[in-house]
Amino acid sequence: MTDQYAVIGNPIAHSKSPLIHEAFARQTGQDISYERILAPLDGFDETVRELIKQGYKGVNVTVPFKFEAFQLANQYSSSALGAGAANTLSFKNQTIAADNTDGAGLVRDIEQNLNVQIAGKRVLLIGAGGAAEGVLQPMFKSKPKSITVVNRTLDKAIGMIKKVEAQSQFGNTILSACTFEELQGQAFDIVINATSAGLNDTALPILNTIFAKDCLAYDMMYGRETPFMKLAKDNGAQVADGLGMLVEQAAEAFYIWRGVRPETHSVMQQIRNLSQL
Ligand code: ATR
Repeated sequence: MTDQYAVIGNPIAHSKSPLIHEAFARQTGQDISYERILAPLDGFDETVRELIKQGYKGVNVTVPFKFEAFQLANQYSSSALGAGAANTLSFKNQTIAADNTDGAGLVRDIEQNLNVQIAGKRVLLIGAGGAAEGVLQPMFKSKPKSITVVNRTLDKAIGMIKKVEAQSQFGNTILSACTFEELQGQAFDIVINATSAGLNDTALPILNTIFAKDCLAYDMMYGRETPFMKLAKDNGAQVADGLGMLVEQAAEAFYIWRGVRPETHSVMQQIRNLSQL
């Protein structure tokens, strides 16, 4: 019997996850179905419980339900605990197991696909919302020299780093939070934009001097060039969008569910061609 999976969000029509998981299933010969499900904003739990009743094996969870997914679960991976949010749920017997594959997806895209090592690097993480929180701990575990979290609302950045400090072995990585003004005079080897500013083409209040020589500028958004990407490109940085992270986080989820790791390069290419990115 075909095992059923889905991605739940609101909105959800734009989600590329079905295309990605269907490509993984074809490639690995796994017999699964995967669909998009729009849950009402106040109906996430109910939607998931109904899917469990129908025999679904798991779901991916996207905006705005990642925190609710974490709350609903009764078993947690360390990555879900680290983020306090889940993008992958697995249903088995009476358990709802929560994972968060976003951070692993980002790290894998940076290290394996873009061939940039994180260890020893000066990292700037821009933003302190759900997207940033999901990747902070996995980035931290990759042992950069430092991670600076910059956010318009400083308190959120401070709260985020305190959580990671409380949960992780410190290592030698220097973790700090700052305002955009405090970035003056600083340069970084890896700059990650985890804000939603690009959604409406808003430029971030950053100077072009933050991009060190051979800098990787990574925008978690994909689909078009954001002002952040343009600024980085104009200042000589290597620029990447979030499509690789999207495919890699899906591959991690697929591996959790099916125990098979799909090849991602061809799928990335396929999705890029389809979207004509
Ligand atoms: P997500 O779950 O996608 O991270 P979010 O939790 O709403 O969404 O967080 C959005 C992030 O983008 C926040 O860090 C937000 O900054 P604030 O915490 O100060 O609100 C940041 N952001 C959004 N628009 C921005 C802008 N125009 N300039 C700077 N930061 C912006």
